[in-house]
Amino acid sequence: MTRLTRPDLDGLPAYVPGRNLADLTRELGIAEAVKLASNEVPYGPLPGVVEAAAEALGSVHRYPDLGAVALRDALAERLSVSADRIVTGCGSVALAEIIVKATCMPGDEIVYSWRSFEAYPIIAAGVGATSVRVPNTPEHGHDLDAMAEAITDRTRLVFVCNPNNPTGSSLRKADLDRFLDAVPSDVLVVLDEAYREMVTDPQVPDGLETYGDRANILVLRTLSKAWGLAGLRMGYLVAQPGEAAAIRKVVTPFSTSLVAQAAALAALQQEDEVRRRCALVTAERERVTEALRKLSVDVPASQANFVWLPLGDRSAAFGQACESRGVIVRPFQPDGVRVTIGTPEENDLFLAAAEAALEG
Ligand SMILES: Cc1ncc(COP(=O)(O)O)c(C=O)c1O
Repeated sequence: MTRLTRPDLDGLPAYVPGRNLADLTRELGIAEAVKLASNEVPYGPLPGVVEAAAEALGSVHRYPDLGAVALRDALAERLSVSADRIVTGCGSVALAEIIVKATCMPGDEIVYSWRSFEAYPIIAAGVGATSVRVPNTPEHGHDLDAMAEAITDRTRLVFVCNPNNPTGSSLRKADLDRFLDAVPSDVLVVLDEAYREMVTDPQVPDGLETYGDRANILVLRTLSKAWGLAGLRMGYLVAQPGEAAAIRKVVTPFSTSLVAQAAALAALQQEDEVRRRCALVTAERERVTEALRKLSVDVPASQANFVWLPLGDRSAAFGQACESRGVIVRPFQPDGVRVTIGTPEENDLFLAAAEAALEG
């Protein structure tokens, strides 16, 4: 048979999404489940978002604004940067892909910590770039010294995921300062801050505030998590104007929809409510962490809206045991299990399932 797709894609892992209720109903006959597998915030769309999206539906026979001007202006004001530094995209994962497309040629190297966001290797392979994975520290964080050493003259890009998905670990300012000073000026560093709004440790820097003026730093953020727009797909990046303009050239035209732009504008009006929700989530994060530690799970401190259970090769079995009790978590066999923080009631269901799974 003639092969129509690239043979190197055979070795590429597929992105594994968090499972959902339909999977459990089909496979286990379970009618109700709590989904703690995709790092969503559990409190529904922000006030005003559904109305704004519904109103925008009336214009969907028209193309969206290609430049997302109103949205970029609103983001620019909120972030105190000029709008020409912002690029919006169909989720920050799409922007990560576009950044790689804009920086890497086949054979170029991309350095990142591993385990980290599972899209990085897929994105790198998509353009024929070489992934250079630097193992996490024993504490499940980035090994910044080893990452600096892994940079060669083929390196074009470094992903720094802060806080790190899926381990929740975070990098402090002094360590990041030292690392960023060591990165050559012709290597772009992407600070992936998908969970920034959930950070409570004052020593974990806001990448944009702290490093946004550096020429080779790009900050990647999303409206999927704290801002509750995962289903509508909206992310953004902040780079220097020249880099932003170059990246904008390779964004798929019209890929942030008219409805997503309208909803994002409405969501951005709700900063106080976002703060309130994040406070609920981070308080629960600490409670769940403590409860798991009491069950003798060595949970690292998390600065995101999920916790990491380093269960090693027991991870898949733990995930299945939780599912059989109607709680969907996200195992990464053979390393650990990531569990999203839900409502207090959802977290209680998870903790009961975890206790039973660990005993079983
Ligand atoms: C670290 C990190 N970056 C980026 C993303 C992508 O988010 P989205 O494409 O929904 O904006 C995620 C989603 O899980 C993530 O964990």
